[in-house]
Amino acid sequence: MKKRLLILGGTGDAAELAARVSQIADVEVISSLAGRTQQPLTPKTGTVRIGGFGGAAGLAEFLRRSPIDFLIDATHPFAAQISANAAVAAAECHVPHLMLVRQGWEAVEGDRWIEVASHSEAAMALSGQSGRVFLTIGRQELAEFAGLDAIWFLMRAIDPPALNTPIPKGKLLLARGPFSLADERQLLLEYRIDTIVSKNSGGAATYAKIVAAREMGIPVVMVQRPPIPNVERVADVAGAISWLIEQFGNGLCNGCNG
Ligand SMILES: NC(=O)c1ccc[n+]([C@@H]2O[C@H](COP(=O)([O-])OP(=O)(O)OC[C@H]3O[C@@H](n4cnc5c(N)ncnc54)[C@H](OP(=O)(O)O)[C@@H]3O)[C@@H](O)[C@H]2O)c1
Repeated sequence: MKKRLLILGGTGDAAELAARVSQIADVEVISSLAGRTQQPLTPKTGTVRIGGFGGAAGLAEFLRRSPIDFLIDATHPFAAQISANAAVAAAECHVPHLMLVRQGWEAVEGDRWIEVASHSEAAMALSGQSGRVFLTIGRQELAEFAGLDAIWFLMRAIDPPALNTPIPKGKLLLARGPFSLADERQLLLEYRIDTIVSKNSGGAATYAKIVAAREMGIPVVMVQRPPIPNVERVADVAGAISWLIEQFGNGLCNGCNG
């Protein structure tokens, strides 16, 4: 009988993992997306479900009912709530669980990073220091910057912010990465940006702005990642596939499946 793998997705790594695992004959893949973007990067293979589970209890119920044999959490490094829920639900249901978390970026020579722990700290770091800011944090935390009236913001997000969300003064650019170095340089010049705010998302798709900032001596307020659960983890798709194959070798089975 096929084993069922639930991938918590929303990232390029999750979509790639779904595509590669679907080629393994003995595994059926279900990908889960939060449904945050209007046109999600939906995996082309396997089943896709969209929307929340209803907290850790709802996810545990989903694991039992499906039933799920293996869980890989390949969500965005800032999606802390779903990762915490996954750790609780997987432990409760005795479902083998792995986190696929890409490496964060590290500052190199020439980078002028101001590292902060949260978006509200990032807003505080800008106050009185910056005049024209490139806000590349997506749309969910824009309200944190809405009170900074002395600053003009270039905001980039995949989708527009929810109606009635306060957003800072400036221009909203709707775009999805990857972004090229030439285009990022051009944006910084065209809008006379003096500071960038970024999440430390890691990965190549949105790294060009960090390189452009380094070249141009522009400071980057870098929001550090939230803590993640203390569970087994790998940094890339190949590592996740090796883990899955290992689970088969161990003959592990979902304790909730009876
Ligand atoms: N989620 C993404 O795809 C994604 C992608 C890029 C960046 N981010 C960044 O991560 C931060 C938090 O985002 P977030 O609100 O999406 O995450 P979150 O705070 O971890 O999750 C909030 C709730 O959304 C639902 N959820 C999240 N991911 C899910 C998935 N893969 N499948 C089913 N339900 C899911 C869960 O609802 P229930 O409790 O009801 O199950 C979860 O409790 C933001 O800064 C955002 O920019 C997220």
